[in-house]
Amino acid sequence: AARKLWGGRFTGKTDPLMEKFNASISFDSRFYKADIVGSQAYAKALARKGIITQAEASKLHEGLDLVLAEWEANSFKLEDGDEDIHTANERRLGELIGTHISGKLHTGRSRNDQVATDFRIWVRDEGHKLVVVLKQLIAAAVVRAQNEIDVIMPGYTHLQRAQPIRWSHLILSHAWSWHADCQRLEQLLDRLNQLPLGSGALAGNPFQIDRDFLAKELGFARVMPNSLYGVSDRDFVAEFLFWASLTMVHISRFAEDLIIYSTGEFGFVQLADAYSTGSSLMPQKKNPDSLELLRGKSGRVFGGMSGFMMAYKGTPSTYNKDLQEDKEPVFDAYDTLMGSLQITTGVLATLKIRPEKMLASLSIDMLATDLAEYLVRKGVPFRETHHISGEAVRMAEERQCTMADLSLEDFKSLHSSFEADVANVWNFEQSIDNRCTPGGTSRITVQAQIESLKEFLGLA
Ligand code: ARG
Repeated sequence: AARKLWGGRFTGKTDPLMEKFNASISFDSRFYKADIVGSQAYAKALARKGIITQAEASKLHEGLDLVLAEWEANSFKLEDGDEDIHTANERRLGELIGTHISGKLHTGRSRNDQVATDFRIWVRDEGHKLVVVLKQLIAAAVVRAQNEIDVIMPGYTHLQRAQPIRWSHLILSHAWSWHADCQRLEQLLDRLNQLPLGSGALAGNPFQIDRDFLAKELGFARVMPNSLYGVSDRDFVAEFLFWASLTMVHISRFAEDLIIYSTGEFGFVQLADAYSTGSSLMPQKKNPDSLELLRGKSGRVFGGMSGFMMAYKGTPSTYNKDLQEDKEPVFDAYDTLMGSLQITTGVLATLKIRPEKMLASLSIDMLATDLAEYLVRKGVPFRETHHISGEAVRMAEERQCTMADLSLEDFKSLHSSFEADVANVWNFEQSIDNRCTPGGTSRITVQAQIESLKEFLGLA
């Protein structure tokens, strides 16, 4: 096995099980590239202060390029002593350019500021890919909302029929959650974009390394203002995992809507074959497995977040090995989100809707509020009209008919302000378009939402 980076003061051997237990290479090799560009910037910074020569810096840079090429070609060979990505890259660099030069790279640096830097670079750069797929999902919602703006359906509270709404309004309600998720993600990626490198192990860098230069080289907006904070702050991990959890909650709730609407009892939507599976026993079955997995995976991401928070909370100041537990939940959440967002987009874009089923599920009693509002427009206080409309609901129920079947005399018996135009209340489309205050389900206010999201997506 290779000589341990920290082996000088040790005489005894590491227990083989401990060796494995301690190692993070099986997962942190994922940010090999961030580790290499971080080292290249650091080599430049060392040369700028005359800690190493320009020639040495160039050698380090070229050597690191070779190591990078091996990773990219999938030819990097791990060795037994490769504890983590930092030790693996440095070991290989030494083999390629000689340890008398590679051994200068780590001057003033610690794996503590190194790993914090690498991980921030990775989350920042990969995080922006999640912004892209999230925007694709929102775009799919906007396209549907635009194409199907004529479709009306029952809106629910407590899963009980409440008021008629546009199908597009429902789709957009989810799109607005995703829009907020997108903003949150961009904001947290901006917040995490500060440089730990130059913090050393904990106390700071003794070689006057130009941290502003390092920040610029590595695309960080600012340097972290305290070295203890620099090596131990993992708030960005917590924020990312919370973002992932909340986004999955939104995905899960969307999935739940569609699962309900795709039942035989509702029949409002039909999932494309591409996102459904069958039953090994019941030939007629078409199951919404994609949606159930989306709903289920939200639990997994939330678990990663709570697991990390538990590990983070007990750590005393600065770096502790507990912090190595920050990576797997982030990678897992990342992969889960990347998959889930794309599947959600596919499901949404290929879904068949059945407007006739939605229409058939509308019932006249869903216009009881409109009846109350009718009387409000005739000058009756809403509290009274609510009661009167309730009486009309009960009257229709007792007669086993709908309110639309009640006569003008029936209505007049409830209140003298009713006139013949009460018949106009029984119009779902009009009920919907009455709700034209911004944010409402009317055609113009749904159209306005579409425009606003298009602008956000840069499509307007
Ligand atoms: N593999 C470690 C991690 O992921 C790198 C930092 C190790 N630093 C240390 N002093 N043991 O956190």
